Amino acid sequence: MDDKKRPPSKRPSQSAIETRMILMPQDTNQYGTAFGGVIMSWIDIVASMVAQRHSQRVVVTVSIDRITFDAPVYVGEHVVLKGSVNYVGNTSMEIGVRVSKENPMTGETEITTRAYLTFVALDENKKPVSVPGLIVETEEEKRRYENARLRVQARKELLGRLKS
Ligand SMILES: CC(C)(COP(=O)(O)OP(=O)(O)OC[C@H]1O[C@@H](n2cnc3c(N)ncnc32)[C@H](O)[C@@H]1OP(=O)(O)O)[C@@H](O)C(=O)NCCC(=O)NCCS
Repeated sequence: MDDKKRPPSKRPSQSAIETRMILMPQDTNQYGTAFGGVIMSWIDIVASMVAQRHSQRVVVTVSIDRITFDAPVYVGEHVVLKGSVNYVGNTSMEIGVRVSKENPMTGETEITTRAYLTFVALDENKKPVSVPGLIVETEEEKRRYENARLRVQARKELLGRLKS
């Protein structure tokens, strides 16, 4: 890694995003609950905006490591998406997105989905370029960083084993 080319480090809070959508009938499957692809699209949008804010570059999704749907979302419920940078490599960034649903009538909330996405920042020639380092301070930020580091390590080990 060429640290001279690396922009100054930033905190996860400097790029974190929280937004909400409402689940409309056209976003559902035949059971009247959210169609997974719609939620995945919202997750990709939120995560890419976090990666853009951290790197201040054009970014592309390179992988979605894990996504789980833990509870169904029904028409009319609010879908709250929170995204932040978990980890950075040299040119790549892992963004974690946590999705919860909120019943607007009762205020009840429940986590429905978690996802980890990796983006790469590109320069003017569409080549991977160094991103700012990450300053992790809180216990939660340190836990997220360490878990993401383990995911990166596991992915590299698995790829190595698959090739051999
Ligand atoms: C992203 C892209 C430019 C990377 O090109 P590349 O030749 O693999 O570049 P590198 O090998 O230098 O890897 C760049 C970074 O991506 C990471 N990376 C590559 N493949 C990865 C994968 N499958 N999962 C996670 N990270 C990956 C590398 O570890 C490296 O990270 P680092 O710099 O932090 O160490 C290229 O794969 C691409 O254009 N992909 C298509 C992206 C796209 O169109 N996305 C839209 C969704 S359809």
